[in-house]
Amino acid sequence: MLRRTLLAGLGSALAGPALAETYPSRPITLVVPFAAGGPTDLMARIIGERMGKELGQQFIIDNTTGAAGTIAVGKAVRAAPDGYTISIGHLGTHVANGTIYKNLSYDLLTDLLPIARLPSNPMLVVSANAVPAQNLKELVDYLKANPDKVSGGTAGIGSASHLGALAFFAATGARYQLVPYRGTGPAVQDLIANQIQVMVDQSSNSLPHVRAGKIRAYAVTAKDRSAAAPEIPTAAEAGYPMEVAIWHGLWAPKGTPAAIVEKLNAAAVATLQDPAIRSRMEDLGQDVPTPTEMAPAAFAAFQRAEYAKWQKILSDANVKVE
Ligand code: MLT
Repeated sequence: MLRRTLLAGLGSALAGPALAETYPSRPITLVVPFAAGGPTDLMARIIGERMGKELGQQFIIDNTTGAAGTIAVGKAVRAAPDGYTISIGHLGTHVANGTIYKNLSYDLLTDLLPIARLPSNPMLVVSANAVPAQNLKELVDYLKANPDKVSGGTAGIGSASHLGALAFFAATGARYQLVPYRGTGPAVQDLIANQIQVMVDQSSNSLPHVRAGKIRAYAVTAKDRSAAAPEIPTAAEAGYPMEVAIWHGLWAPKGTPAAIVEKLNAAAVATLQDPAIRSRMEDLGQDVPTPTEMAPAAFAAFQRAEYAKWQKILSDANVKVE
């Protein structure tokens, strides 16, 4: 048994460099934890299309939804560690869920290998146009005057939009009913239709609809106003300081050869150095990380630090799903 294990281990060690030499020789599947049309899906399609050009292979988008991304991450963890199935996620799926969900079938910090950190964007406090409020103070007063009558969309417990809602509740003392969706793409469509009335949503998802006049923005959850939308005040300017930035990243299953992770990282770095991609991201309110911040080891250290930070925030707030 020991001999077989040693040979198997040696085999994978020897196979790694050989695998990397010909990698990628077929399309790469990118598992996206939320529905098409949302911010994670949009990031996946923009980044995947350009990384595919770098690597000479198509990226196939696999939207695997449910349970705020935990189903998708479980699928990504179990994928073959050969570089042909990787996953995209963010603060919610790859940090917060590790604290909130008690029975996950995986460990976010050891069962996945960080490939590259991706852009990060603040959130916007937004409402349906029908909501009778013209600024954040009026929105908060409206919510407090209509307790439990106003609904707001999230992508499930632990999602970025849920974390944003928690931060909003803590900063304002207001509440709204949390309605879970398979992603904030579908959720924002219901916001436009006034089926739900409020969201704290990633800037990249809501900003195009704000610009089109389909929903109203009250505040950005950042220390400073967004260069992409300087007309939107910060929450602090209205007297409700709250800062939530949703960063994204790419991960591979544990056991993926380092040489393959490096190839994927290099393609991601080249993608975010492309002026057209940078401009698209910045126009959506995204801050693009530097190549140094994107490096696998740096991203792994960043994820661990975020995990410790949010573990305390979420434990103190007693946020959990049994
Ligand atoms: C979230 O709320 O976690 C994301 O915005 C969901 C999504 O990308 O659809």
